[in-house]
Amino acid sequence: MSSEVAIHVAGVTKRFGDRTILDRVDLKVYKGETLVILGGSGSGKSTLLRLMIGNLRPDEGDVRLYHPTKPGDPPAEPQCLCAMSDAELDEYHKAVGVLFQSGALFNSMTVADNVALPLREHTDLPDETIAIMVKIKLELVGLREHADKMPAELSGGMKKRAGLARALALDPRGLFYDEPSAGLDPVTSAEIDQLIIDLNKQLGVTSVVVTHEMDSAFRIADRMVLLDRGKFVVSGTPDEMRDNPDPLVRQFVHGLTEGPLTDRRRGGGYEVDLLGIE
Ligand SMILES: Nc1ncnc2c1ncn2[C@@H]1O[C@H](COP(=O)(O)OP(=O)(O)O)[C@@H](O)[C@H]1O
Ligand SMILES: [Mg+2]
Repeated sequence: MSSEVAIHVAGVTKRFGDRTILDRVDLKVYKGETLVILGGSGSGKSTLLRLMIGNLRPDEGDVRLYHPTKPGDPPAEPQCLCAMSDAELDEYHKAVGVLFQSGALFNSMTVADNVALPLREHTDLPDETIAIMVKIKLELVGLREHADKMPAELSGGMKKRAGLARALALDPRGLFYDEPSAGLDPVTSAEIDQLIIDLNKQLGVTSVVVTHEMDSAFRIADRMVLLDRGKFVVSGTPDEMRDNPDPLVRQFVHGLTEGPLTDRRRGGGYEVDLLGIE
């Protein structure tokens, strides 16, 4: 795995109103790796993802982007998301592919047109070239024969694949997934996991995957981080996470019924969980 940093979430705090959703989170994503962000529902995973994509701005700290360099080049100066102009942010958005929780295909367009959309919006390529590129992306996700279907004709897993083909349209160097296996049966979910692994290998992209499903996390992760109530708890390889003796990490990673998470819910922590007050 590369030791070259692609993204550095540097001491980021994010508040909504007077609630602190992320509290001084510091996290590095390395070039070419698949990083899995774990955490219970409401722990701030999607918020962290949206900060990395530049759809949200932090209240404190910064998200630093490191552009790829050629071997032998001096290390590049990072670009801070907070200091980026709207035009620079647009460029960044073109360089990352995002698969949101909802998948969000346009229901009135065929699968092929959904995938072609970013190419039509952001490039001046002729229609014939776009058609070829769409075929390549659909082949990558195993949907080439379904190009002319409407989203309503697709199964849940196929919709995710189509969303992924669209995220790949502009050849991103980074891919961000929010709960890619949410709502899928275990077999389809495992297929989507395999696709995430294959794409990471074939395309050499850096991938960040948010999930709360441990089976899936262990299948795809090079490295994992655990968030709890907006605080960064621990990061490590799958083996390190499996062997981590911390009671909270153990309970989360092994799905134990007893531990700090259940104690918190049972004890006076309920209102803390509910309202986010300390
Ligand atoms: N735009 C927003 N405005 C206000 N509160 C928000 C907003 N987005 C998320 N939150 C709150 O932040 C907390 C963390 O949300 P989220 O990052 O979606 O968690 P997760 O993805 O881990 O389930 C939740 O309590 C959620 O209600
Ligand atoms: Mg979420």
